[in-house]
This record gives sequence, structure tokens and C-alpha cells, in this order.
Amino acid sequence: MADAELSLLYHGLLLPKATHSQESLDYMQKLTFKDDDVVGVTYPKSGTTWIQEILPPLLHGGDLTEVKTIPNWDRVPWMEETRAPLVMDKIPSPRAMVSHMPYQLMPPSFFTSKAKVIYVARNPKDVLVSSFHFHKMASFLDEPGTFEEFTDKFLAGKVLFGKWTDHVKSWRNADLGERILHVTYEEMILDLRGVLKRMLNFLGRQLTTEALDSVVNHCSFKNMKTNNMSNYSLVPEEIMDFKKSSFLRKGISGDWKNHFSPELDEKFTATIQEELKDSNIKFLWDDQ
Ligand code: A3P
Repeated sequence: MADAELSLLYHGLLLPKATHSQESLDYMQKLTFKDDDVVGVTYPKSGTTWIQEILPPLLHGGDLTEVKTIPNWDRVPWMEETRAPLVMDKIPSPRAMVSHMPYQLMPPSFFTSKAKVIYVARNPKDVLVSSFHFHKMASFLDEPGTFEEFTDKFLAGKVLFGKWTDHVKSWRNADLGERILHVTYEEMILDLRGVLKRMLNFLGRQLTTEALDSVVNHCSFKNMKTNNMSNYSLVPEEIMDFKKSSFLRKGISGDWKNHFSPELDEKFTATIQEELKDSNIKFLWDDQ
């Protein structure tokens, strides 16, 4: 199907029609943030589902009941999606939600509240690979074409939620002071426990060593893959075809090396570096 049938345009950004509507976007803009709300913000395929698993136990004393009994989209809803109006008022405070919105499109009450943000960035090469496979398995997304064609669309920002560099820059330049914590997917892969401790500190929460151990264990890729509340197995096969790809696919950093030719790598790296050159943004993967 063509892009236009599957996506809608919101302030110049392509959003999937399957999960977004003008009503849901109006709802988002009118959301009243509470000071103890926490928003996990990501560019798609950067670890959103992981954050939906992590935040409830961190905010609720290590309790894993929510993550074992409520699907991720109802437990930590996307504030811009069509599920939000149905579940937002039912989730216990402190509320956790997620969003793919760039900073400038956050709702007015977010800016006047004390709500906190955890922004997760991921190596854009792995984001691209993850997104490519997701487009193949999700019937509500357009066919990605060849990997090279999809790369060109990604670099041009003609993909869902626009350019990766615009998203990252918008949140790096956010005027939020102590209200924002930046982490990366790669740090979470290397040392999940350490990142969870940083998150706890940022959120002003504490867990016992045993409770933290059990959250780390529960949020491992292996365990999330078998959690039906998080692995998207509740979604019908016509919508997500698991024969083509899992949603929780590989869960590693560096899979891009299995997809990029040296020429593609050179073009991709040059484009991203050029777009970030005035921004002072340096990531863990820049040195790799
Ligand atoms: P891959 O496709 O590279 O495996 P999002 O949730 O933003 O859509 O991102 C999905 C990506 O995050 C997928 O990447 C998925 O496997 C990965 N992911 C989710 N939970 C993870 C975990 N516990 N450990 C490592 N990667 C995880």
C-alpha cells in the first residue's frame, strides 16, 4: 500500500494511521500533565518497549505485577496514540507513558509541569535495521523496498516521525534542566543494572538490591521475549506477521554490520555527521 493510505501528516511528520488519529493527537495536545508523570521518549525502534517494561517496577517499588498482567500499550501508553484516551486516566500515579514526539510538539501542559523525561537514543544504524524488519512484518506500515532504498528514505526523513537527527537534536536542546535524563540503548545493553540505578536516582526512588536484581532479570531480552504482555504475541497475525520477523527481534547493538555495505556505511555516516556537526552531540557509538 502507498504511504499516503497508511500514514497521516502531523506538523510535517508522518505518523501511522493504524495507531494515530486527529482525535488522539487533539487529546494529546490537551493532556494535563501531573508533576509526578514520567515520559519515556524515543525515536521509533530505539527501545520503547524496553522502557515500557522498566518504568512500572521502578516507579512502583519493584512490583512486577503490572508488567506480567497488562499489555505494554495499556500499561505505559503512547500519549499520542488512540489507546491513550481509553487508558490514561486508569493508570496509577506516578504515571508512566511513552512518546515518539519531538520536543517542540509536546503538549502545552508538559512545559509548565514538572513531569520528567527519560530520553533513550540508539545508534541510528541499528534503528534503521530494526525499522526495516519492522516494516516487513507489520501490515500497517508500507513496504520498505530494498535496504538501500529504505536507507535513502530514512536519511531524507521520509519515514515515520521524520529525521532521526531532528528528533535527537530536539531533545538534546530541550530546555528542561533537571527534568530530563539521557540514556542510550547501547548503555542499557552493556550495563542495564547501572542504567536502572541512574534512572532510580533521577526519579528519586529506591529499590532494595533484591528488588533491583529482579527488575534487571525481568527486563532482560530473553525474558521479555517470552512475556506475552510485551512481545506483541497478542496482536493478530494479519497485523504483525511473526513468520517474517519477531517484534523483539535480535536485541543487540551492532546488527547494522550485517546489513551495511562499506559504501552505504560511508554515505550514512557522512550524512548523520554532517547533520550533527553543529550540535555538540557525541554518542558512545561515534568511537566504534
Ligand atoms: P531489534 O529489532 O534490533 O531487535 P521499540 O520498542 O522502540 O520499537 O524498539 C524495538 C527494538 O528494541 C528491537 O530491536 C527490540 O528487540 C529491542 N528491545 C526491546 N526490548 C529489549 C531488551 N530487553 N533488550 C534488548 N533489546 C530490546
